[in-house]
Amino acid sequence: MGDIHSQRRRRFMEMMGPGSAALIVSHPEMIRNNDTLHEYRPNSDLIYLSGFEEPETALLILPGKAETPFVMYVRPRDRDKEIWTGRRAGVDGAVERYGASVAHPIGDLESTLPKYLEGVESLYMNLGQDPDRDRLGLEALNRTRRSSRTGTKGPVRLIDSASILHEMRLRKEPDEIEALARAAEISAAGHRAAMEVVRPGMYEYEIQAVVEYQFRRAGSRRFGFPSIVASGPNATILHYEENSRRLEAGDLLLLDAGTEWGYMSGDITRTFPVSGRFSEPQRRVYEIVLDAQKQAIEAAQPGAPFLAPHDAAVRRLAQGMIELGLLRGELEDVIREERFKRYYMHKTSHWLGMDVHDVGRYADGDSARALEPGMVLTIEPGLYVAEDDSEAPPEFRGIGVRIEDDVLITDRGNRTLTGGVPKEVAEIEAICGKLPLEDALRAEGRKIA
Ligand code: GLY
Ligand code: MN
Ligand code: MN
Repeated sequence: MGDIHSQRRRRFMEMMGPGSAALIVSHPEMIRNNDTLHEYRPNSDLIYLSGFEEPETALLILPGKAETPFVMYVRPRDRDKEIWTGRRAGVDGAVERYGASVAHPIGDLESTLPKYLEGVESLYMNLGQDPDRDRLGLEALNRTRRSSRTGTKGPVRLIDSASILHEMRLRKEPDEIEALARAAEISAAGHRAAMEVVRPGMYEYEIQAVVEYQFRRAGSRRFGFPSIVASGPNATILHYEENSRRLEAGDLLLLDAGTEWGYMSGDITRTFPVSGRFSEPQRRVYEIVLDAQKQAIEAAQPGAPFLAPHDAAVRRLAQGMIELGLLRGELEDVIREERFKRYYMHKTSHWLGMDVHDVGRYADGDSARALEPGMVLTIEPGLYVAEDDSEAPPEFRGIGVRIEDDVLITDRGNRTLTGGVPKEVAEIEAICGKLPLEDALRAEGRKIA
């Protein structure tokens, strides 16, 4: 579909070289129970190269074959099945609407693949996630071995397509940056709505509903990941997804939620007071994390190592842990001995894009790679004091704070895509709990329309 996918295929082919082929096969559908399936989300590589969203699909990309550089395998049209489970493009649609040179029913993949792979030496595949899929590649190698005496040539090596494709996906194109910015904007509206309505007595799942309502009503098709709505001590559980607790007066609420737009994901965390005001210990922790986050964003510069934001955040957080009496000793020792990990146990950043924890290498061999314009990463330091940490000063126990923004590296510095949600203490206290539910839903809905 569209030019963008054929341009990507062309670039992919140039990097693969003529004696090669790429086979990108869809994820299998997952049974939820009996004949009911989990929601299907096509794998990002396949979408990236084709825009084709149906399950049971394979793309075969053949740079050396002038007549058939792009072969698609798809579900055939089937009137009965389409009545039950929805429209299919079919083989004709694959050619007419998705730019396939030729298309086959997916059931013919195994029988027709050997012919297409004749003369191909290297086969690129999205390996390692589905044994059934990997088997296709292994069989292709085996076939070559078996037929070597007849002179038929086929693939002699399998290569992970990630080595090319994921590096392409790591550097975002202008269209992708636009989609990410929109995902960030909608994600921000969800967070603002949550802040506006939050009150003691609500349940975490009600906040989740408010946030996700904004996401969906803005036209987002699905969320980037399961929303984390963690109140009180639940905020010290990094990926808490139960979302079942009642919000108590005086709690902090940690909300980590983001939505998809155009197959690009937002990823925002804010931590805010359920009663509208931070307590003194909460504020002290919060200000340290906020300061760490700002310093980490400042460190996210083109040419800087990927870990520069993390190192900046760790330094400020470790200093803060000493200030709060959580840790004792010299800052340099705390950092060198990694004692900060007791209260900050995750990394500060991950790539962000089609997948919330997006693809692309983080290191070149032993050294962290340099940030480049067009890369997008999260900056999400936190500080978490377990409720039962008997060594921590009592006033900090059960406090968890994380602040997360999405940052695009630009030629001259960086751009925060998620700036639409407050994070200064005064701004947060000004917005929290200020609107009745209906008003907040309507107001935010208008802003992102
Ligand atoms: N929402 C998951 C993460 O922040 O990595
Ligand atoms: Mn994240
Ligand atoms: Mn997150």
